[in-house]
Amino acid sequence: MIIMDFTTTAMARPDIVDQTYASFSENLDGIDLKQCGLFINVDPIPSDVDRMEVIKVAKKYFGEVHYNFPNRPNYTRAYNWIWSNARTKYIFNLEDDWGLLEEVSVPYLLEYFGEYPDLMEVALRAYTYSYKACPTSPSIMHERYYKAVAGKLDEKFNPECQLRGKNFGIEMPARSLGVSPKGKIIAYPDKRVILKDLGRNWLERSKFAKPNVSKKYFTSWVVKDKDHLDELTVLANKFECDKGSINRNYTKIYNNYFYPIRNDQFNMLEIGLYKGASAKMWTTYFQNTILYSIDIIKGVPKDKRLKVLVNTGRLKYFRADQTSVNEMSKMFDGDKVVRFKIIVDDASHMAEDQQYSFGYLFPFLLDGGLYIIEDLHYRRKHNNKFKVRADNTIDVFKRYKQTGNFESKVLIPDQLEYINMCIDKVDIYDDKIVFIRKKEMK
Ligand SMILES: C[S@@+](CC[C@H](N)C(=O)[O-])C[C@H]1O[C@@H](n2cnc3c(N)ncnc32)[C@H](O)[C@@H]1O
Repeated sequence: MIIMDFTTTAMARPDIVDQTYASFSENLDGIDLKQCGLFINVDPIPSDVDRMEVIKVAKKYFGEVHYNFPNRPNYTRAYNWIWSNARTKYIFNLEDDWGLLEEVSVPYLLEYFGEYPDLMEVALRAYTYSYKACPTSPSIMHERYYKAVAGKLDEKFNPECQLRGKNFGIEMPARSLGVSPKGKIIAYPDKRVILKDLGRNWLERSKFAKPNVSKKYFTSWVVKDKDHLDELTVLANKFECDKGSINRNYTKIYNNYFYPIRNDQFNMLEIGLYKGASAKMWTTYFQNTILYSIDIIKGVPKDKRLKVLVNTGRLKYFRADQTSVNEMSKMFDGDKVVRFKIIVDDASHMAEDQQYSFGYLFPFLLDGGLYIIEDLHYRRKHNNKFKVRADNTIDVFKRYKQTGNFESKVLIPDQLEYINMCIDKVDIYDDKIVFIRKKEMK
């Protein structure tokens, strides 16, 4: 007997589908997938060639597999098909590219429906923000929700926008059918993210991209054109941050490093807040990070978006000079153990300052983390606060690449020893920006 149907919108990527189902079959407790049905729609992207391979993968995990191979891709039509065909009171909606990072008990999640009689969906947490509407990320849905929506989504529009019930000037089935999900959704667990997006990395490397239309019209990936910009660059340009393609062109390099960890939960530090353009960019790109920021300016500039970031704890500003350990250490007041996965130095651009901050902050970088120093070419002026003049930072790192030894006149022997022990890799781009990766210590 089938105890629960799973529903999947998929693309013809058997490896990713396999990773998804493997992680769920390993980590979902209290349910045997062999007693579950699967309704899976496989769109012909990247091509229609591997679709049957996807079904073979699905059959390794599920007791019954029902599939649909449409002639052309349409994300919304896929949802209409899977939800129109699913049969059980509760379904597990699982798109094809998610990894479940820890064990979760399905009977435990189902208890919520007993507790809250109007509950539509229990969503496993993929993002830290508060869930106000039913997402399409992995979740258990009640039939009162998915059946009401099934077959009624308008195929011209993005299903996620329609389900979100926001007013995009289009009809909202969830709302117009009287099943607005607002207040009727639980995100589990309360704060921690327990899902990893497995598809974004693939997308970035593939020949596909989001079409250049507003989000509400997104129903399928399209082949990238020569003017295609990566997501971080689009955000930089939107927020008028000079790291984007209009100015320094750093974001396309950043994007290569950051795309795989885009949805991870971590702390990031940027030295140099200025008007907050990059702070807005980073916090939009990394939905689950807390951004620490230091600068010598009085406080966070007056700006609505920055205010929300501060109020929600996603932006923590400290007034501190990057040439003062005393001031920078304010970030660690009250015995807080803060470690960063990413540190970006976009502040004074003086060699002494860059190296001094690097010496102090590198130990606060997590193993495997990245320390980035921007604008190595920008200003050759020296900071006379220091008794000695440092070599230009670009030369310091070029020398490191040649000799394997990091030397700086403004750092003390203990710091140099630590840095030399912990640097894993140094990448320099156009003599302008350096990425220093810290070793994974066992
Ligand atoms: C290029 S702006 C930062 C731009 C910002 N990261 C962005 O992309 O939107 C440089 C900032 O570094 C700050 N700055 C200059 N010297 C500094 C120092 N010694 N310590 C900390 N911040 C400093 C300046 O006040 C200025 O706001």
